[in-house]
Amino acid sequence: MEKGRVLLAVTGFHPQRWRELLSAEREVVLEPDGASDPSITYAVVWKQKANLLSSLPNLRAIFSIGAGVDHIFADPGLPDVPIVKVVADNLTQYMTEYVVWRVLDHHRQGMLYQAQQKKKTWHEPPQRPAGDISVGIMGLGNLGRAAASVLLSLGFAVNGWSRTERPMKGVSTYAGEAGLIPFLNATDILVVLLPLTAQTQGIVNCSLLKELRKRNGLGGSVLINAGRGRLQKDADILRALEDGTLKEASLDVFEVEPLPKTSPLWAHPKVFVTPHAAATSDPVHLVPIMLRQMAGYERGEKLDNIVDREAGY
Ligand code: NDP
Ligand code: OXD
Repeated sequence: MEKGRVLLAVTGFHPQRWRELLSAEREVVLEPDGASDPSITYAVVWKQKANLLSSLPNLRAIFSIGAGVDHIFADPGLPDVPIVKVVADNLTQYMTEYVVWRVLDHHRQGMLYQAQQKKKTWHEPPQRPAGDISVGIMGLGNLGRAAASVLLSLGFAVNGWSRTERPMKGVSTYAGEAGLIPFLNATDILVVLLPLTAQTQGIVNCSLLKELRKRNGLGGSVLINAGRGRLQKDADILRALEDGTLKEASLDVFEVEPLPKTSPLWAHPKVFVTPHAAATSDPVHLVPIMLRQMAGYERGEKLDNIVDREAGY
């Protein structure tokens, strides 16, 4: 195979650093240039414009800038070429840090102490060992498994839910529709690390949250979502916080991003908001992986981490 040119098509952030790093080995064309260009063989994308990729007659593969690929499937004219998602130690480490940070903060009553500090209240609530708390990870994939192993090492009980059976030592695993309710019933802190697909959209709603376990040392169930915003119903989370179904939530993702200034989630005393920042895609770490894959593909090697189109992730 000939050394192909790369189309870089991103929305929502400046592509300069990605361009510089890709240019070390490849000629890079920056969208809006490049439409219909026969010399382009790879596209590196984040929320690319609809029908742009289908205009490229010699496109051989699409590289997602993120681990999630819902932004690619949003294109109605997606061409039938392999889609490669991000699997990288650095991204996994960031997500593990986020999950462990949020789990520990809820477990160690960070929100309560912050409220007490504001009122200059000196009061020590009872402490519980991590082993009393079950953290349930929805999505036991690359990110979910890495977070699970660190949570295990901290002494938490860990449950995992996936589409297909995914055994993991030390983790109580559940799969598919049949496993969902038993998984939730055994979970105190729910961590959502699912991809957004037709099957998972809106899954984090009132009826799901009501199934979480309540008899725990936390004083209520907790939700942490770092997967995708459209997995959840923002209004249902607010309702669950109001009626006591949920004690607290940490949300990195929202139905609409950026989270509108009018959203009551911003000022809710029981919600910790981050701006879709749990695990940043760092081009310094990700571009070398992409370049290595492109070179290998041209030598006839297989691409790694190809998206399963039927499953949607
Ligand atoms: P993977 O593809 O490795 O894992 C996805 C997991 O979800 C798998 O365990 C899969 O099951 C499970 N799953 C998918 N569909 C279903 C379903 N219908 N029912 C039950 N389980 C399901 O993805 P990653 O771990 O790499 O990433 C997960 C998601 O995290 C990304 O798709 C992205 O949306 C989000 N993300 C968010 C970031 C942020 O900054 N907020 C950063 C990076 C990623 P199975 O194992 O059976 O295939
Ligand atoms: C991703 C993200 O999917 O950053 O990697 O959301």
